[in-house]
Amino acid sequence: MLANVKSSRWPQIVAWPVASLFVLGFFFSSVGAWTGPILGVWFVGTQKPRRGFLWMMAFAFVPSLIFEWRKFPLTGPQQALEYLGWALVAAVLSVLPFTFHRLVSPRLSGLLSTLPLPLAGVAIPSLALALHIGTTSMVGLPTFLVFWFAATLVWMWNRESRATILVFAAGFVLAAGVELSRSFSVAVLRPTQLFGTIFGSISLGGALLLSVWALLIPTKKKTWANRPQTVALLQSPFTANPLHLVSEEGTETLISSSGERFPVRDGIPAFLKPEDLTGDNGKYNRLYETIGGFYDDIQRVVGAFRGVDLDSYFENYMSLLDVKAGDSVLETCVGTCLNFKYLPHGTKLSGLDLSPEMLANGQNNLRRWQMEADLYLGNAESLPFADASFDVVYSCGGFNFFSDRAKALREMIRVVKPGGHMMIEDETEEYVKSTYEKGPITSGFYSNRKQAVTVPIDLVPPEMEDIHVEMLKDGKFYAITFRKPALV
Ligand SMILES: C[S@@+](CC[C@H](N)C(=O)[O-])C[C@H]1O[C@@H](n2cnc3c(N)ncnc32)[C@H](O)[C@@H]1O
Repeated sequence: MLANVKSSRWPQIVAWPVASLFVLGFFFSSVGAWTGPILGVWFVGTQKPRRGFLWMMAFAFVPSLIFEWRKFPLTGPQQALEYLGWALVAAVLSVLPFTFHRLVSPRLSGLLSTLPLPLAGVAIPSLALALHIGTTSMVGLPTFLVFWFAATLVWMWNRESRATILVFAAGFVLAAGVELSRSFSVAVLRPTQLFGTIFGSISLGGALLLSVWALLIPTKKKTWANRPQTVALLQSPFTANPLHLVSEEGTETLISSSGERFPVRDGIPAFLKPEDLTGDNGKYNRLYETIGGFYDDIQRVVGAFRGVDLDSYFENYMSLLDVKAGDSVLETCVGTCLNFKYLPHGTKLSGLDLSPEMLANGQNNLRRWQMEADLYLGNAESLPFADASFDVVYSCGGFNFFSDRAKALREMIRVVKPGGHMMIEDETEEYVKSTYEKGPITSGFYSNRKQAVTVPIDLVPPEMEDIHVEMLKDGKFYAITFRKPALV
């Protein structure tokens, strides 16, 4: 029975003023002083540390040159180089606290994980000041509080806490109060040089302590050695030879009888070879590697603007799958594991995807939701599982743009047990045209396609049973469900 996708007015009402505030932050420094750190800590959290650092450097360095070009000394090449050098140092100093937070925070838990940014935000400029590297006015308690506010807000947003918006509103009312009192010349707390130095030293000590603590906390590494039943289902996607696990010097590798080696990286066995990233698979993989870190956030923000209740949106198509607690389920383009939340408790979850970035964020999600799943890096067109391994197999949101859809469907049918249920869900051409072809990042990928999206019902072999096609959300999505015959 299909649930209706509910609409959600409140997020829509809230989304506009919040977005306006962030836009204002780009033009008014008093707003930007609050919105900038929020955007910064969110952004570096969505990126690998090095990539995040380089992007943040570009954001900090290039606009500062553009907006301050009048100050650029035209007296000679040496002065010009000196000016550029100092602008670069200023950019590094402003970006380092965010990178420190990106490195340390994921290793800490709870509210403690919000502290690296404010501590580093005070400690790094204080240290620079003490070493006479540049000058800075942003040292002290106000910096600490603004950065802590930013880190806490993003922490709450990542935990999908509904109170995020209340904290956001309270923070901004407070900020507006401080700004107003400033403009009415009411004395506000200003850190004295002495207080700044003491506070800077305390922050530096705190940041160092947190780093040491973060390094000492043992990371729980997922091992495949304690899952022999799962390993027994694995086979080489290229030769179909069964695999066995070898652990050498702390690293695990799956090896086939013909000697193929598939490394396990960060708990995820990798089954890709370069050919898997050609054609449409390669093209769209570049998109997912770019947006993987904020894929979930895009869904939440777009959902809020459109007034879509995301839970009922996912439940809408996941309710079409016939899954019982205890079933083993495979999603063949699992992305960030969003659909897993809508399967019954006690389901044995497996997910495969072509994008390491999407899978890494899927792992973060599972950790946050305290869920367990086996994840694999691989191509849906050549699955690394033995025949008849799963009770249910489905593919949501990726099927349309697989390089070889027919092969991917044959693979789904191969690995599902006789009598097992299957589903293919994806967008229709109408949705791709009206949304992806117009999106700022997506348009470059989805415009000028060789062919339009069609509902792939013609690919489902006629011997499949209970074949149903549902058009969802006013024809924007389709879902095909069917069952592998019990006796084949
Ligand atoms: C729109 S996302 C959908 C993610 C998830 N299923 C969901 O509904 O949120 C599409 C996913 O398909 C994956 N994908 C694309 N081509 C693939 C292929 N040939 N094999 C496996 N995954 C693929 C992408 O990496 C991406 O994570």
